[in-house]
Amino acid sequence: MNILILGSGGREHSLAWAIQQNPKCDRLIVAPGNAGIAQMCETADIDILDGDAVATFAEENTIDFVIIGPEAPLAAGVADRLRDAGLLVFGPSKAAAALEASKSFTKAICDASGAPTSTYGHFTDAEAARAHIRANGAPIVVKADGLAAGKGVIVAMTEAEALAAIDDMFDGSFGQAGAEVVIEEFLTGEEASFFVLCDGKTVLPIGTAQDHKRVGDRDTGPNTGGMGAYSPAPVMTDAVTQKALTEIVQPCMDEMAKRGTPFEGVLFVGLMIEDGQPKLIEYNVRFGDPECQTLMMRLGGQILDLLQACAEHRLADAQVNWADDHAITIVMAANGYPAAYEKGTVIKGLDALPEDSKNMVFHAGTASKDGQIVATGGRVLAVTARGENLKEARDRAYAMTQQIDWPEGFYRSDIGWRAL
Ligand code: AMP
Ligand code: GLY
Repeated sequence: MNILILGSGGREHSLAWAIQQNPKCDRLIVAPGNAGIAQMCETADIDILDGDAVATFAEENTIDFVIIGPEAPLAAGVADRLRDAGLLVFGPSKAAAALEASKSFTKAICDASGAPTSTYGHFTDAEAARAHIRANGAPIVVKADGLAAGKGVIVAMTEAEALAAIDDMFDGSFGQAGAEVVIEEFLTGEEASFFVLCDGKTVLPIGTAQDHKRVGDRDTGPNTGGMGAYSPAPVMTDAVTQKALTEIVQPCMDEMAKRGTPFEGVLFVGLMIEDGQPKLIEYNVRFGDPECQTLMMRLGGQILDLLQACAEHRLADAQVNWADDHAITIVMAANGYPAAYEKGTVIKGLDALPEDSKNMVFHAGTASKDGQIVATGGRVLAVTARGENLKEARDRAYAMTQQIDWPEGFYRSDIGWRAL
């Protein structure tokens, strides 16, 4: 099978790494990829937001299966364009990607299917949004409706903060994404990420994880795309998982199908759990980054069979082979992230690290320059390890970070603290 993966982050590196272990994988190309991916398979410099360009590339390279990593090409309709060209695709249609691209759309799907989520108001007018905040008080959560690269959510602990967020959003700080806002009830409890495949009809759970969104130790400082993750998430007990499936995920997937826009791909279900009751915080229509790295380390090569079964609408017959293991990812980011950071700094020591089924450094934002690996992004490396328990996995991962010689980078020292 010739496989094309779209994307360039740690998520796509881990997908490529797992897929390449499957004997069905003959040729693997990642576009555009990064320096770490280029060490293990082919990369191609194509514009992944351009459906025509991707379709042409796939046809020229006799690609059998295209796997779309990030949300932007999904929201741009690249999956639809590729399916129109007759290609087998993993990733939802543009219409189904609205579950991530529009928070008000997701709320409407929850309303229609009775899925537990925070109460909310949806506003296109700043004055009405302010009145809603004054009427409800703080804490309260203000969200830009559209895709805002993880920056469109303000958890306001005071009314003043919430009102300032409304000013920002209607002033255009979030571009088109802020022209509409959703204002939500503040939920308390413990967060977890639940990953399921859906082929339009059947839902198949493939793992749980917990992310660390704040940049600093003990969950301090600004929000990031994720500074580390571990899998499984202990808060996702069998009972909570079953509730999330029957009360939230399956009804929403049924509603999508009923509307003629079935969801086909991986659904990242962001949950808040309190007293054993899960409520939906958000859906994403792709794997999380760095959650994906922990899932791929645990699932290995079988992920290709699962993604293929999903794309071919065969999930009813598919099965996940679980191991009783734990994985953790420590993100190494460039000093300054998530604010301004330096690019082009040299990372040393990677060659000496083990690369096996228990230890992997996935690249997130790297390039190779004059034979050296340089940092090109905010989140740069995803140091990932597996163990029989979380402590063993964590000790392995931190041992690797210590061998990486990159003075211009940093990482959180407490990934996994909640579970440990
Ligand atoms: P989102 O991008 O929707 O995942 O939101 C980013 C983060 O904001 C979440 O991971 C939560 O920590 C927090 N958050 C979002 N919505 C709520 C809510 N209704 N109540 C409390 N925290 C929230
Ligand atoms: N780690 C959170 C995300 O991928 O959105």
